Amino acid sequence: MRRRSLALRLLLALLLLPPPLPQTLLGAPCPEPCSCRPDGALRCPGPRAGLSRLEISQSDSLEKIEANAFDNLLNLSEILIQNTKNLVYIEPGAFTNLPRLKYLSICNTGIRKLPDVTKIFSSEFNFILEICDNLHITTVPANAFQGMNNESITLKLYGNGFEEIQSHAFNGTTLISLELKENAHLKKMHNDAFRGARGPSILDISSTKLQALPSYGLESIQTLIATSSYSLKKLPSREKFTNLLDATLTYPSHCCAFRNLPTKENSEFKIVNWWTAPCPFTPCL
Ligand SMILES: *[C@@H]1O[C@H](CO)[C@@H](O)[C@H](O)[C@H]1NC(C)=O
Ligand SMILES: *[C@@H]1O[C@H](CO)[C@@H](O)[C@H](O)[C@H]1NC(C)=O
Ligand SMILES: *[C@@H]1O[C@H](CO)[C@@H](O)[C@H](O)[C@H]1NC(C)=O
Repeated sequence: MRRRSLALRLLLALLLLPPPLPQTLLGAPCPEPCSCRPDGALRCPGPRAGLSRLEISQSDSLEKIEANAFDNLLNLSEILIQNTKNLVYIEPGAFTNLPRLKYLSICNTGIRKLPDVTKIFSSEFNFILEICDNLHITTVPANAFQGMNNESITLKLYGNGFEEIQSHAFNGTTLISLELKENAHLKKMHNDAFRGARGPSILDISSTKLQALPSYGLESIQTLIATSSYSLKKLPSREKFTNLLDATLTYPSHCCAFRNLPTKENSEFKIVNWWTAPCPFTPCL
């Protein structure tokens, strides 16, 4: 009896709640100091000297970000745009002149093209760009990150719809780390993808369909991670990896490519097959 009246009261309470506001129905409210127009466009006009972080997430109403949307936010150091499935278009020039920007994350959106980041002109050390779980982006074009930052960058580009990485994709960058893992459709990386770039020191191509690594630009790699890279049947010869210290690979045959290590580096070099014995014990045919 008591239980029933409790249930009844709960039901009544639910019925008496005010109807949700349209804004909350459509997702998160518009972040300060931005305006979210009824046509689904976002604008965050400056100047707002003090603003350092902007997060837009869980919004169903955001559909596009127009050029100069983040104009004059000169002290902005972080922008996060996440879980906005209806965001399909980021206009070129949306991210323009953000000299203090250190971290830009665009994940789980509906965008069709890699966003234009070439006018950010950040001068922060180790700028981190995270582009993840954007299933409709298929290509990393030439010069995609040129102009983003003039110091050094980490690219976390994982879980996207990438199929190919074009020639000169990283032209003009100093790459500390390049994470391409879990791009499950990534088959092709152009031989000149690293042309014009310095780095990367760390390369992770795990869980991709890459069949080959570019033959140019491997000399800077110190750490290579290629677990669950089942399509990568063959690695470039060991001589191309002049600075390799550490590699985690998929097949025993990968190991064989590296078996004749120059003695100079032997002491430091570590190589592991994640699912079999450590390399020195793998028989090579
Ligand atoms: C901009 O950021 C820096 C460091 O993050 C801070 O010292 C400075 O006060 C900020 N400028 C304004 C106008 O808030
Ligand atoms: C990057 O740009 C800033 C500001 O223009 C400058 O002070 C810095 O020296 C530049 N760094 C490099 C490596 O060119
Ligand atoms: C690579 O970048 C440089 C500028 O840093 C540019 O002059 C050159 O045209 C670019 N190469 C290609 C093939 O896009």
